[in-house]
Amino acid sequence: MSNNQIRVVTIDGPSGSGKGTLSQMLARHLGYHLLDSGALYRLVALASVKRHVDFAREEFVVPIAQNLNVEFSVEGNSMQILLDGEDVTNAIRQEAIGMGASQVAAHPGVRAALLERQRAFARLPGLIADGRDMGTAVFPESVTKIFLTASAEARAERRFNQLKAKGEIVEMENLVADIRERDERDSKRAVSPLVPAADATIIDSTDMSIEEVFASMLALIKQNS
Ligand code: C5P
Repeated sequence: MSNNQIRVVTIDGPSGSGKGTLSQMLARHLGYHLLDSGALYRLVALASVKRHVDFAREEFVVPIAQNLNVEFSVEGNSMQILLDGEDVTNAIRQEAIGMGASQVAAHPGVRAALLERQRAFARLPGLIADGRDMGTAVFPESVTKIFLTASAEARAERRFNQLKAKGEIVEMENLVADIRERDERDSKRAVSPLVPAADATIIDSTDMSIEEVFASMLALIKQNS
């Protein structure tokens, strides 16, 4: 592979599989850019809430996705996300916005509106693309495709701890139910459903530490470069 070729690594999988953390770790380690595609769908959901638009109304949500005025700025180790100039880094992480994101993400028009915006993140030397359809729809040509998964219970527990650390109190039972509902919607939707690409390597992180998953992903990336 020549040096001026952009290396794209896609990491897809359900929520709570550890994709976000691992994508950040890999991007930092390799000096690659990072695309958190879920954040874009979350931004569409948040912008819809702010404009009092029902997530189900595709005809109103699509223009919001097309005209999303968003800025990602990296400061040191953390990324700040601005929507219409307002810092929404924490606001988009709320559970309700995650549920909204999975509803707006089911609209084909919303997915089409975000496609080029996502592809524009691919710049030298490389990109870690985190999402649900990175290897199947957004970057089908990428050489390294990873599908990271874990049991619903393990993912709910991780989410519970993340939310607790942020002071958000949720019932574990509700969280498992929400995760199952979101998995179901993400896997069954007609456009870009959550499925591993035919050429993806599947990693089940249920009984693995973050360090173990990181090491196996890095080995895969090195093997392909
Ligand atoms: O990854 P995250 O939890 O931030 O994603 C929020 C929601 O956005 C997911 O549940 C999924 O419905 C949607 N999404 C998607 N395609 C992506 C990334 C996220 O449909 N590439």
